[in-house]
Amino acid sequence: MHEKRLTIPGQAREYAVSVGSGLFQNASVLLGTDVYSKVFVVTDEQVERLWLGKLRAGLPHVDGMISLPVGERAKSIENVQRIWSAMREAGCDRKSLVVILGGGVVGDMAAFAASTYMRGVAFAQVPTSLVAQVDSSVGGKAGFDFDGIKNLIGTFAQPAAVIIDTDTLETLPERELVAGFAEMFKHGLIRDAEYFTHLSQKPPKDYTAAQLADFIARSVRLKSEIVANDEREAGERKIVNFGHTVGHAVEALSWESREPLLHGEAVAIGMVVEAELSQFKGYLSAQDVQRIRQVLGAAGLPTAVPAYPIEKLFEKMAMDKKNERGKVLFTLLKRIGEAIYNETVSDDVLRRTLQGSMERAHAD
Ligand SMILES: NC(=O)c1ccc[n+]([C@@H]2O[C@H](COP(=O)([O-])OP(=O)(O)OC[C@H]3O[C@@H](n4cnc5c(N)ncnc54)[C@H](O)[C@@H]3O)[C@@H](O)[C@H]2O)c1
Ligand SMILES: [Zn+2]
Repeated sequence: MHEKRLTIPGQAREYAVSVGSGLFQNASVLLGTDVYSKVFVVTDEQVERLWLGKLRAGLPHVDGMISLPVGERAKSIENVQRIWSAMREAGCDRKSLVVILGGGVVGDMAAFAASTYMRGVAFAQVPTSLVAQVDSSVGGKAGFDFDGIKNLIGTFAQPAAVIIDTDTLETLPERELVAGFAEMFKHGLIRDAEYFTHLSQKPPKDYTAAQLADFIARSVRLKSEIVANDEREAGERKIVNFGHTVGHAVEALSWESREPLLHGEAVAIGMVVEAELSQFKGYLSAQDVQRIRQVLGAAGLPTAVPAYPIEKLFEKMAMDKKNERGKVLFTLLKRIGEAIYNETVSDDVLRRTLQGSMERAHAD
């Protein structure tokens, strides 16, 4: 068993993130399950098939579980209700532990269900996708999509523990692995230029399991440092939203198209557009923007906005949670490795940048 343990400072309490191979066999100990009255598992149908058995080997005592349909469409109020009902049927009380096994979809949604059930019970994140391992399992954002808008309803709720067993990446489809790299590139771009360079060396699938484990630990550390000072995103934490203003709008519109994008893919497109906006503001050089576009593209990520109606993109961006007093506020890059938040750009510049990106997609 190869393991790294990080202690994540939290305003309410600290929690441990364990990263390594073979951790599932030790799950009960890592989660400290004996202090809880009930253990309830939430997963999705795909991860259930691939990994529930392995987790159960290290977590023999489970009082109830629910397995939800796969995919972003499942991140809904209906499925939150199904979790609450299943918890009630399993007899969960306030001293229960909800163990969340899966990607960011069940991660966000079940954390919301747990943090509101009986005004909140403890939950542990056991992320199995790379996106969830490097990003969504740490930081305590919980919620679901509503009225076609990503994460419109949610809470902040910190996990009791996080177990990242890197063996799970063995079964992750390559497209999902690459999507996870988008969030890792983001961590480098906003906070750690050297990390961005490290991540740029090879295509994602060519890294060894040990290298991936090191990257995951580095991303978790970077994200947790940013979140620690600002759990509820009053200010500094907004930098983790780099790429997400445009990215969430693109992601939501892609669901209505014939080619839905993964979250990480939409974020990659968003990061390139927001890098271009950063250049327009005089922060990034043209070479830096070109480097970002080239590195993301070489990893296998899309870098140009699909041909969606610009007005629809504006409508989605108008609903972004970082906005204040009706103004769309961006996180931009001062340089590679440093971000700046609450930045505005004129509608005209935004429109021209989106248009330019779409034209580039056509030219490619
Ligand atoms: N809370 C946050 O801070 C935060 C950060 C980033 C992303 N998110 C959210 O996370 C979601 C995206 O996460 P995701 O990409 O993990 O999506 P996901 O949960 O849909 O997982 C992606 C797919 O991979 C499958 N899968 C997961 N682990 C697997 C494994 N080990 N082997 C094979 N298949 C596996 C899942 O069944 C699913 O089909 C979005 O809803 C996004 O908004 C939240
Ligand atoms: Zn994201």
